Amino acid sequence: MTDMLTIRRPDDWHLHFRDGEVMRGVVPYTARQFARAIVMPNLSPPVTTAEMAAAYRERILAAVPEGERFTPLMTCYLTDTTDPDDLARGASAGVFTAAKLYPANATTNSAHGVSDVAKIYPVLERMEAEGIVLCVHGEVTDHQIDVFDREAEFIERHMRAIVRDFPKLKVVFEHITTADAAIFVMEQGENVAATITPQHLHINRNAMLVGGIQPHNYCLPVAKRETHRLALRKAATSGNPKFFLGTDSAPHLRSAKESSCGCAGIFNAPYALESYLSAFDEEGALDAFEGFASLHGSAFYGLPVNKETITLERAEVPVPESLPLVDEEIVPWHAGQVLGWRIAS
Ligand code: DOR
Ligand code: ZN
Repeated sequence: MTDMLTIRRPDDWHLHFRDGEVMRGVVPYTARQFARAIVMPNLSPPVTTAEMAAAYRERILAAVPEGERFTPLMTCYLTDTTDPDDLARGASAGVFTAAKLYPANATTNSAHGVSDVAKIYPVLERMEAEGIVLCVHGEVTDHQIDVFDREAEFIERHMRAIVRDFPKLKVVFEHITTADAAIFVMEQGENVAATITPQHLHINRNAMLVGGIQPHNYCLPVAKRETHRLALRKAATSGNPKFFLGTDSAPHLRSAKESSCGCAGIFNAPYALESYLSAFDEEGALDAFEGFASLHGSAFYGLPVNKETITLERAEVPVPESLPLVDEEIVPWHAGQVLGWRIAS
């Protein structure tokens, strides 16, 4: 049995830091494990210009604990009126690494998102020409569509058209939750990839709804049936470079989660690597972990692989029931459970 695993230092290709005090409280959890992270722009107001992204990046860097080396990679929040020139300028100046498509009202702070994909066709055309990565929250918002079907429906209504009309555009289908999305990604060229969160490797929809409503297992897209969880495990551990790590860690304070209208989002940053690794271990796929966590994402984004390494060792790691944050508390993913791996160095 392998008890130690040394891999290149990993990156998180999908993450929410928020801003202000919450951001300062959560950045250290990510900087402890990851060299870089794609930082999502769904602040209030959203990060829609290169100027806003550059200022946000500075605030994040100021929150990185001394001695940690961590690089935030910024994204532009696409709206119906995004200026292709500002986006292209921001990308060539090294401010923007990617742009994020939120269908309007799909999730937290997405009210300013895109109301109709056709409206951003000039932006997508420019992104394709400039090699700027498009990150997609792939869920339709149509109220007629069952919440468990919204990702699969997005593929039919939008993803197929985007990859057909922009055959060279680099697209990341973010936080995929269905076998349909995994298959779709596998069927496309190497310009189409997907991130997978730890929670979607561990839970199915029962975890949200059985034994009482479990708000800390609620995120968007919601976890689906067991068949989908198994398909995601297969994709993540397959060694296919189209699939890589993106935690979608999304901090909401306990009071915002445990409410009559609880927020969507799972705060998995504190034990993210340990969580992923236990899933890979259960699948007998430890040898596939470095690719998923540390190699595939940088290859897709065209960025260098990290030089440093990180060592994980088999050990019992009890996850606290809650962590202090901003005079309150936040419940981490796996709260109260014991994980089987820890970061040794
Ligand atoms: O569960 C989620 N939380 N899904 C998202 O897409 C956004 C995120 C957040 O920002 O809270
Ligand atoms: Zn997200």
